[in-house]
Amino acid sequence: MVFGIAAPLIASALFKQLQPTSTAEAVAFVRHMMSDVGLLNEGVSRVFFPYKSWFWTATPSLRDTFLQAVLGTGAMSHLATRTWFYDRHLMSLLKPDMQVVICGAGFDSRAHRLHVPRGVRFFELDLAQHPGVQEYKVAQLAKYGLSSDGIVHLPIDFKRESISEVLMRGGHDPRKPTIFLWEGVTMYLNKEAIEVTVREMRKVAAPGSYLLCELFSARLLTEEAKADPSLSKYWKQVSKSGEAYSFGVWPKEMPKFWTSMQVHVVEHQNPEAQQKEWLMTPGTARWTDDDLPHGGVCHLFLLKLK
Ligand SMILES: C[S@@+](CC[C@H](N)C(=O)[O-])C[C@H]1O[C@@H](n2cnc3c(N)ncnc32)[C@H](O)[C@@H]1O
Repeated sequence: MVFGIAAPLIASALFKQLQPTSTAEAVAFVRHMMSDVGLLNEGVSRVFFPYKSWFWTATPSLRDTFLQAVLGTGAMSHLATRTWFYDRHLMSLLKPDMQVVICGAGFDSRAHRLHVPRGVRFFELDLAQHPGVQEYKVAQLAKYGLSSDGIVHLPIDFKRESISEVLMRGGHDPRKPTIFLWEGVTMYLNKEAIEVTVREMRKVAAPGSYLLCELFSARLLTEEAKADPSLSKYWKQVSKSGEAYSFGVWPKEMPKFWTSMQVHVVEHQNPEAQQKEWLMTPGTARWTDDDLPHGGVCHLFLLKLK
């Protein structure tokens, strides 16, 4: 009788431990699981969630159960296409001695998984109160024998602080070109915070500096979108984490949005182009429920800052 009551309680507590606890962890963990089916290359992030990784990748059927639960939100195709876009551009732009600033880094693993030229310095910026992610990452990397040399972790709140001041304090060199990456963050901010931050990035950006970043369509914030099955499932998951979306731009206004900040659009990958890339990639045919990346609201940009 006692066992009958205790067993489900223990099982549900254990199961909770095996679920990601924040959006930063959730997106990184889905990418990690997608690496197990060959779509991405985020094996190294196992060190950030060793027990969850051990459990969910223990057998192909457990792994597929996890990924099946994510399906229908467009999250898999969205995380894949945005990772491919950012990695492709980062790798083609980076030269020795350049700097990479990862804004709202969460569990980003690029400093460890990309083959960057020698001398490239990484700056990982994130909310200080975001449950101790920066300290946790450094500690886990050390525990698994991975060095954090060449990576500077800095706290920032884009709604309140100037990125140029934070970077200067952290030893960023404004004479060297910088690639800024702002992945999965603008949708949690507001227009003013984004505009101020981009202007501040330009202040410390030497010629040859770029920003990689996405904008979500303002459609995501409408009542119609919340009723759209492909968007509502994702919305619910994000809202459950207490980090609801707050910002979007209508696609036809996106070019003006950037040029008003004196930023030049080098490439704009729209949702149709992302879908095309997803459909053409080997291994995606198993996950057809996810064929439209994030329900078609994500626009990816390569922007020249200076
Ligand atoms: C969905 S996660 C994305 C994390 C990471 N860029 C990735 O794609 O894996 C959103 C990140 O934005 C950060 N963030 C949200 N609002 C922020 C703010 N006002 N200032 C700084 N970081 C913020 C969170 O702390 C979190 O790490």
